[in-house]
Amino acid sequence: MHKILTARKLAENIFWMDVEAPYVAKNCHPGQFLIVKMDEKGERIPLTICDFDREKGTVAIVFQIVGASTKRMAELKEGDFFQDVVGPLGCESEFVEEDLEELKKKKYLFVAGGVGTAPVYPQVKWFHEHGIDVDVIVGAKTKDLIILEEEMKAVAGNLYITTDDGSYGRHGLVTKVMEDLVQEEGKTYDVCVAIGPMIMMKFACLTSKKLNIPTIVSLNPIMVDGTGMCGACRVSVGGKVKFACVDGPEFDGHLVDFDEAMKRQQMYKTEEGRAMLRLQEGDTHHGGCGNCS
Ligand code: NAD
Ligand code: FES
Repeated sequence: MHKILTARKLAENIFWMDVEAPYVAKNCHPGQFLIVKMDEKGERIPLTICDFDREKGTVAIVFQIVGASTKRMAELKEGDFFQDVVGPLGCESEFVEEDLEELKKKKYLFVAGGVGTAPVYPQVKWFHEHGIDVDVIVGAKTKDLIILEEEMKAVAGNLYITTDDGSYGRHGLVTKVMEDLVQEEGKTYDVCVAIGPMIMMKFACLTSKKLNIPTIVSLNPIMVDGTGMCGACRVSVGGKVKFACVDGPEFDGHLVDFDEAMKRQQMYKTEEGRAMLRLQEGDTHHGGCGNCS
């Protein structure tokens, strides 16, 4: 059992929890995720690790209410327990393994869309702790949906906030700020990390391609069980079949087939869609989707 030490609302339908999980806290790195299960019958919910404290043995998760399970999860309070917290899962961000002196020569741009700000935070914090300043763009539909602004301010070199409706910070989508920083303000970047909804990552990649900036994305949104069993997170990367929860979640965004991934994500939601995927994918279907005998 894993005790919830803090539970707070960050914005409408978006929540932060600190949870006791010493093994995960001791072994995790930025970019990795964990799975929570509320009780014996509960759904497995994969969530990116948003912060961790190795000494206290705690991890932080951020989630948005998107269905019955996350609605139930939002009702949990400080002192309640998760039955299971499994992790760390997936591969860590590539920069964790990179030579620090080489990394210091590179200029990183992080682009966070909405709830995607949460998984960006531990990465930016990692750079800060290693003495490297990075630029961060945080975008949300409106002022009330900006999350973790103070936390991000404390670790980012430069923080650019933007809202779709112009109610706070700059006015426009994150992709507009990417263009403005490079084309209007003369910034240059060696690597971009874009994390948020699939559609945002698709357009961030189209923009960064135009700006000639190699880009990493995190495909957490297409995961269902996060265990490599369900086959939901299958994606083409550079023409090769990958599974986000096993091979990722981070990939070269310029090689990801976003249109196929988003179409597949929609199809996966219905039984008929899953049967169609099994037919279309034949021998390369991952199996375990509940529809394969
Ligand atoms: P949202 O729809 O409010 O979008 C957030 C921002 O992304 C917008 O303010 C805008 O700046 C940008 N954006 C959106 N569509 C765009 C487009 N077409 N072109 C350019 N920029 C665009 O986001 P939300 O409701 O907070 O996000 C929820 C989604 O985030 C869920 O689908 C969830 O799966 C996903 N998410 C992803 C990760 C990850 O690891 N990639 C982690 C957590 C949540
Ligand atoms: Fe089920 Fe990856 S999320 S196989």
